[in-house]
Amino acid sequence: MKLLILGGTGWLGGHIAREALERGHEVTCVARGTDVPEGVTLVHADRDVDDALAPVAADSWDGVIDVAMQPGHVRRAVRDLAQATQRYIFVSSVSAYPDHSGANPTESAPVFEPLESDTFTDMAEYGAAKVACENAAARERLGSRATIVRPGLIGGPGDPSARSTYWPLRFASPSNPEGAVLVPDHPDFPTSVIDVRDLAQWLVNLAELGSEAPTGPFNAVGMSTPLAQHLTIAREVAGFAGSIVVKKNEWLRERGVSQWAGTKSLPLWIADDSMRGFGAWSNARALEAGLALRPLQDTLRDGLEWALAHSSEPGVPSGLTQEQEAELLAEARL
Ligand SMILES: NC(=O)c1ccc[n+]([C@@H]2O[C@H](COP(=O)([O-])OP(=O)(O)OC[C@H]3O[C@@H](n4cnc5c(N)ncnc54)[C@H](OP(=O)(O)O)[C@@H]3O)[C@@H](O)[C@H]2O)c1
Repeated sequence: MKLLILGGTGWLGGHIAREALERGHEVTCVARGTDVPEGVTLVHADRDVDDALAPVAADSWDGVIDVAMQPGHVRRAVRDLAQATQRYIFVSSVSAYPDHSGANPTESAPVFEPLESDTFTDMAEYGAAKVACENAAARERLGSRATIVRPGLIGGPGDPSARSTYWPLRFASPSNPEGAVLVPDHPDFPTSVIDVRDLAQWLVNLAELGSEAPTGPFNAVGMSTPLAQHLTIAREVAGFAGSIVVKKNEWLRERGVSQWAGTKSLPLWIADDSMRGFGAWSNARALEAGLALRPLQDTLRDGLEWALAHSSEPGVPSGLTQEQEAELLAEARL
């Protein structure tokens, strides 16, 4: 197969490229950067420029996988590549849905109104931008040759956000001599993580199906797992023998601890009840279409191994630093 990846210098794009190369496919990536897997043909282009894709539009492709988030990038790609490819797979996001209460966890849930503008900078517009990208891909020019894939939280080795690696790394390297770890009091909050390698494999499978591939949309999300169970698995893969110190949302908020992601946060946890469905989107349709998921144990164990080799401590760029956690625990014990 001749596969064109619009991207390939990022985390997921790199995994897609490696997966396709390992299967013996011919892989071309389009990006501004240079960090692509060995064996890829790299076409340097800035998709902010109108005719950036002219060099690849003159060729023909069995499949295109696009990881863009700017509507203008996808609108122009569809315009230029519609006659050049059998299949166009757009990597969207479950952030396309405005309602994460869990009321309607399937792909039939309403999505944001599409962003009209070609570009956005405010992440509050990320969901609307993804919908605009989806529409550009799925309408007229490509029709049934487009496949829309909406991942939830992507995790595993190399996670640049550290959301999926924080907990195993924290349990493997506690911040204090007593070996205690601070956790939020939200045991039944649903989490879900799709392993970057599972997602990449499925995206390549879809590209291999060419004109026979299903159109989607598909929620490509991990199995929904309560936070307490997720933390138990993180403790097991880290071989943690210490104790956990459970603190309520108010206590954490008063001390400036954020939810979900970012610095001084406790990752994966969201106290807001309107977000209870964020980790509970149904993946039934994607599983039926061939998405295969490895156990969460494997994702957390391999993520930990990677994080131990690449990161000096938890808390960068998501989570609590050793110092922040030690201070909070000292206060919790007062
Ligand atoms: N992480 C998650 O949990 C999560 C969840 C749901 C969905 N997603 C989606 O999953 C995908 C993640 O993909 P990723 O990790 O490979 O990508 P990424 O780190 O988001 O990078 C985006 C890719 O687009 C390229 N790009 C950006 N601007 C460009 C421009 N002006 N011209 C040419 N290329 C440009 C980048 O290359 P250069 O910068 O080198 O140009 C890079 O290869 C995204 O679509 C994201 O929205 C992620």
